[in-house]
Amino acid sequence: MKFFIDTANLDEIRQANDMGILDGVTTNPSLMAKEGIGGKNAIMQHYAAIASLVDGDVSAEVIATDYEGMIREAHELAEIAPNIVIKIPMITDGLKAIRQLTSEGIKTNCTLIFSPGQALLAAKAGATYVSPFIGRLDDISTDGIQLIADIRLIFDNYGFPTQILAASIRHPMHIIESARIGADVVTTPLKPLLALVRHPLTDKGLEKFLADYRKHNP
Ligand code: G3P
Repeated sequence: MKFFIDTANLDEIRQANDMGILDGVTTNPSLMAKEGIGGKNAIMQHYAAIASLVDGDVSAEVIATDYEGMIREAHELAEIAPNIVIKIPMITDGLKAIRQLTSEGIKTNCTLIFSPGQALLAAKAGATYVSPFIGRLDDISTDGIQLIADIRLIFDNYGFPTQILAASIRHPMHIIESARIGADVVTTPLKPLLALVRHPLTDKGLEKFLADYRKHNP
């Protein structure tokens, strides 16, 4: 399973990368705005900075919602670095754009997936990744993890190569459950990722090992 970090914060990306387990980065317009990045040049430069920090895929999202606009933006974003993946919203024009970009050899990530049918369409259009937002489904009392399971079953039924990228992760159990079901990728904020590291018995065990060592190595 691949680990992506879901942030546009360069320090958080560096921190996750330093852990030695990072495979890529996902961003979205809200995450860029959170970092105070605005204006086309600043946005493009920020994507370039992110793409230079990691070897793996970096999702950069289009703002246009019409086919021509999405394709134009996608070409500009794809020029930034070879590891840029174009994030396209799940709308009718988005499917068409995914089909076109795929035929040009440009990787895509179909975002804002909330149903198995949407994931099926994105896979059919040739998306490299689909991003089901599990936290936002949980927020409205719908089982987000079940969506990952449904998509896994459908993709496996037909051998779709599209990778399931579990997104909108809120806590470490979202990561564990996604892994159990067989999501190909989880994109997580830094906090749930760091929470996976910690266990009280690990802390207690380490403390005892070191205390015992110190007894005979004063
Ligand atoms: O990258 C998109 C997704 O992960 C958004 O998460 O927390 O805004 O629902 P959230």
